[in-house]
Amino acid sequence: MCGIVGVIANRPVASLVLEGLKRLEYRGYDSAGIATLSGANIERRRAQGKISNLDARLQQEPLPGNIGIGHTRWATHGKPNETNAHPHATKRVAVVHNGIIENYKELRAELEGKGCMFLSDTDTETIAHLLTLYIEEGLSPRDATAKALKRLEGAFALALLFSGDENLLIGARRGSPLAIGYGDGEMYLGSDALALAPLTNRITYLEEGDWAEIKRDSVTVHDASDAVVKRPIQQTSLSGAMIGKAGYRHFMLKEIFEQAGVIGDTLNSLVDPATGELQLPELPFNWKDLSRITLIGCGTAHYAGVVAKYWFEQIAKLSVETDIASEFRYREGPMPKGGVMIVVSQSGETADTLAAIHYAKSQGQKIIAIVNVLGSSMARLADVVVPTLAGPEIGVASTKAFTTQLVVLAILALDCAVKRGMITKDEMATHVKTLREVPSDINAVVQQHEQIRELSQSLAEARDCIYLGRGLNYPIALEGALKLKEISYIHAEAYAAGELKHGPIALIDEDMPVVVLAPRDALFEKTASNIQEVMARGGKVIVFAHPEGVKSINPKPFWSMALPDVDSFVSPLLYAVPMQLLAYYTAMAKGTDIDQPRNLAKSVTVE
Ligand code: F6R
Repeated sequence: MCGIVGVIANRPVASLVLEGLKRLEYRGYDSAGIATLSGANIERRRAQGKISNLDARLQQEPLPGNIGIGHTRWATHGKPNETNAHPHATKRVAVVHNGIIENYKELRAELEGKGCMFLSDTDTETIAHLLTLYIEEGLSPRDATAKALKRLEGAFALALLFSGDENLLIGARRGSPLAIGYGDGEMYLGSDALALAPLTNRITYLEEGDWAEIKRDSVTVHDASDAVVKRPIQQTSLSGAMIGKAGYRHFMLKEIFEQAGVIGDTLNSLVDPATGELQLPELPFNWKDLSRITLIGCGTAHYAGVVAKYWFEQIAKLSVETDIASEFRYREGPMPKGGVMIVVSQSGETADTLAAIHYAKSQGQKIIAIVNVLGSSMARLADVVVPTLAGPEIGVASTKAFTTQLVVLAILALDCAVKRGMITKDEMATHVKTLREVPSDINAVVQQHEQIRELSQSLAEARDCIYLGRGLNYPIALEGALKLKEISYIHAEAYAAGELKHGPIALIDEDMPVVVLAPRDALFEKTASNIQEVMARGGKVIVFAHPEGVKSINPKPFWSMALPDVDSFVSPLLYAVPMQLLAYYTAMAKGTDIDQPRNLAKSVTVE
């Protein structure tokens, strides 16, 4: 949610800042801007809309200067127009900001009372004026920053530059992530290591409350009390190549096709290939002692948690409470003494999930974080991190992060089931074997993508769509509907197939496509009956089922596709993939912006 970049070098930086912003565009794309110092003056170029608009602007009016900051925005306060685009600046200071300044109204009133003229509707502009005020009172940029940070409430990552000081960039973080990159005679700031990947692989992640003075050849980090602190420099394994499209038209399609590989990688990190033993990090609790666990995430990550609820309850006989983080955090529900919360998140930065962790910690819970971004805030807050090895996920709609989250959750559920004595080691080995077969089954499904593309031509005509599933595939129906909504803008809802008769069946008519997930499992016949009920009311049924299942449906549905006949335990992993392809090709047919759908951002770091 908003991306920020800063560069201080001995060469013009505008193009470097722009390239960094392009790699952060997944975080927001309502407007973008860059400010540099040219001599003593702050110069800015800003543009509404995507970074390509800013790029065009810079072609016409290049920005000189060897120090600069940039921003790509997901609007919170104020319309997504050029006036509200960052950087916000006065003659003395330019600022880019990711987050929300919660006390901006009071600050703005105070500053306006002192004669400051505000030009935008943003919360961020208060920071520029506050710093300017302190500098005009005689403070150095560094002391002005230290003083201003103490006045700000809310969440932020900031990059600041100051007129008259061509060797100083200041970065600060509270609640939103910020990384410092080390180059040769140049230094960088970025919302994440991805932004900086082509420039450096030497990164320091600022800790909560830190702020840093960055010069061309030195970095001084202060903690929240302004004391100078040392933060480790880490080597990242990201390379520029990992964040390209590799010949695919969209990141989303590339990421769908990558799933067989990254599921295999994640599985191999969790199961010893020689012995078949699970190799999870040491857990600071005993599964046997637990009466219930809590599983929290948002959106797609939450649906991964809902699948896991079925796994934990069915095979490990452990009760699971699943919830979306934005509700959980305010519900103030009781949590069992000595309990465990598992959080699921691709970015590891989602504000609501972070708040849920803080609540759970206040209730004495141990936290397991399943995250894709290792240096993320959630990874740092958790007692145990079990990473998904999906690699960078750039498409805003989550795909490979979801299926790798499922792999980690399945392994945790198996570990739990064995340790609680609910399954034998041999039964666990059988489940692991079926998980090992998933990559080749997924490859078989993606090979059939042309069939799904054909179906999508007619789905693209629909105004609404219903998804149905049962058991482990009910959350996959929810996920399928979410994917369709977010990238094709077709209204889609998912229901547990058994719930259809309790209301939603009234929606069925000949214009309503109904996507049904019907793997081979104990509930197949019941789902098959639901298919007949929908067809009897004229609904256009689209079935994904195992080969025998497809044959058995009579009369024939509008469209069907046979998927590999997998064990029901792993069916959510497999059935998620055609849901992603269906959404992708429907969005293609509608010509929407698939990697950057309207109104969305990849990492939701505000409430
Ligand atoms: C949907 C999607 C979102 C995210 C949600 C949580 O395709 O990507 O629903 O799953 O915003 O994000 P993370 O996983 O980063 O916490």
